[in-house]
Amino acid sequence: MMTDLETLQAETEAAIAASTTPRELDAVRVGIMGKSGRLTAMLKELGRATPDERRERGAALNRVRDVITGALDLRRVGLETAALDSRLAAERIDVTLPPPPEQSGLIHPISRTMEEMAAIFGAMGFSVGEGPDVETTWHNFSALNIPAHHPARAEMDTFYLPGTRNGHPLVLRTHTSNVQIISMLQGEPPLRVIAPGRTYRADHDATHSPMFHQCEGIAIDRGLTLGHLKGCLIDFLRAFFGISNLPVRFRASYFPFTEPSMEVDIGWNRKTGELGGGGDWLEILGSGMVHPRVLANCGVDPREWQGFAFGMGVERVAMLKYGMSDLRPFYESDARWLRHYGFNPLAPVALHEGVAP
Ligand code: PHE
Repeated sequence: MMTDLETLQAETEAAIAASTTPRELDAVRVGIMGKSGRLTAMLKELGRATPDERRERGAALNRVRDVITGALDLRRVGLETAALDSRLAAERIDVTLPPPPEQSGLIHPISRTMEEMAAIFGAMGFSVGEGPDVETTWHNFSALNIPAHHPARAEMDTFYLPGTRNGHPLVLRTHTSNVQIISMLQGEPPLRVIAPGRTYRADHDATHSPMFHQCEGIAIDRGLTLGHLKGCLIDFLRAFFGISNLPVRFRASYFPFTEPSMEVDIGWNRKTGELGGGGDWLEILGSGMVHPRVLANCGVDPREWQGFAFGMGVERVAMLKYGMSDLRPFYESDARWLRHYGFNPLAPVALHEGVAP
């Protein structure tokens, strides 16, 4: 015959084994060791026993209590481990699966166009640099030989900000040409850098936005000439637009930071908007040989080093390449527009893409 203690232990062990959740297990614990639990009641009864009985019974009760406590702990760890394992199994994800089509995002045309620029200029040995959107008037104007009276400096054209850096007032950069300065100050010639990024001007209509993007380029080396500049930009424009015989025209112009300066036009048909033919010209970017004074401002000796630079509007060339007529949707975050003009993120820019054979 089993004693009452043996029965208690056997029944409790069976109940512990039968528990399938931490909650059920806790109910078993309370039923045995809680305030009105069975074991608790037996311990209370000890008070009425004689000293000899108490010693013997007490030891037996303690033994059973230790056995049950151990079994409860073991089962609790087992249940928790099992719960975690089944959660891990249920929530397992296969990171190699492609996203479901309804969840895949698209690359914005601005990002895509800047990647295309980086791919083409990258193949020509340019690396990608950057400069701050909040710039000093020295980097944005003075170091670039832009005189104090130049209209680009006027309050109505430029967003000035409170505060100064190194004693110079702050502006939202009006072009990416500050990166010309930064590249020369931070690097050693020879160097080739492009810098796509945001720029800001107080302009707002169908073809102008107060924030827009440019891509700057600068090359500094010994013996660089206008011929290198022309070759570089003709190759770029033909690769970018994917038209191997795209007509490109260089037209004398003026920028304070280049001498000589040239505006670059590409051939197109004004009536149809088609690029490449039609006998009309479309202005597409500004360029020139880096002014000796700008080289000197950056500690580059103009007697030893020459350079060329260029800057173009990212939205402008994207609109031409992808046939968009309005600038404003670029910044409106309209998912319908992005679904139409966006690019597959899993199909990265390939250099050969768009380059006619
Ligand atoms: N910074 C000029 C602009 O914003 C473009 C340019 C860049 C011209 C480099 C010459 C050389 O219009």
